[in-house]
Amino acid sequence: MIGVFDSGAGGIDTVRHLRGLLPFADICYIADRKNAPYGTKSKNEIVALAVNNIKHLELLGAERVLIACCTASSVFDFLPERERKIAVPIIKPTASRAVNITENGKIGVIATEATVRSGVFTREIKAQAPTAEVTELAAQPLVRLVESGACDRNITKEQIEIVKNEILPLLALDIDTLVLGCTHFPSLERTVRGLLPGVKTVSSSKEGALYMAKEQLSAGVGKTSYI
Ligand code: DGL
Repeated sequence: MIGVFDSGAGGIDTVRHLRGLLPFADICYIADRKNAPYGTKSKNEIVALAVNNIKHLELLGAERVLIACCTASSVFDFLPERERKIAVPIIKPTASRAVNITENGKIGVIATEATVRSGVFTREIKAQAPTAEVTELAAQPLVRLVESGACDRNITKEQIEIVKNEILPLLALDIDTLVLGCTHFPSLERTVRGLLPGVKTVSSSKEGALYMAKEQLSAGVGKTSYI
C-alpha cells in the first residue's frame, strides 16, 4: 500500500494524479488538517508532524509514503533514518521538471513560508543547473485560499486579485518557468497562468505523483512477464 500525506487539500490533488497513473494501487491518504498550515511552522515542528504521519501510515500498512507536501519534503534531510528509508520527498522531481523545460534559465518558485525559508528549491535547481537564476517567493495566503475551496473552476474576481497580489513581484522578472512549489497551488494553475502569460508552470503535486508511480512501476508493480 502507498501512503500519502499533506496538511490538507494539496495532497488530494497528488492522490488524484497517482490514482490516474496507478489505477490498481492501494492508496491511503492522510490530510493532517488538525495541524494545518504547515508552512508557518518551525523546522522542528514540521519534522515532528512528518514523522507522525509516516508512522501513522506505516501502522495502516503503507510500505512506501509519498510526502505530498513541499513543506514537509523540505525537511526530509532532518527526518530520522528510519523515516527517510520509507518516505519519498517531492522537491527533486519538481525541480528537475523546471530545469528540463526552462529555456532562458530564469525560474520562479512560489511556495510556503517554511519552504522558501529552507531554500531547498534554489539548492536543488542549482544542483541540477548551476547557472539557473532562481527567485523564490512565499505565497502562504494561497494555502488558505485553496483550503477555503477556491480553485480554477470556481475562483471569484476578488480571489483572483489575492492571487495577483501574491505573485505580483514575479511580473517584473523575466522568468519563463514558475514552480508551483506547494501542492495546494496547482488547484490555481490556470489562474496563475492567466496572470503570467507565456510562463510555463510546474505542478509539484503532479511531479511528485509521477515520480512515485515510476518508482512503483520499476519495482515491478503491474509488471507482465512473458516466459
Ligand atoms: N501543501 C503543502 C506544501 O506543499 C503545505 C501547505 C501548508 O500547510 O502550509 O507545502
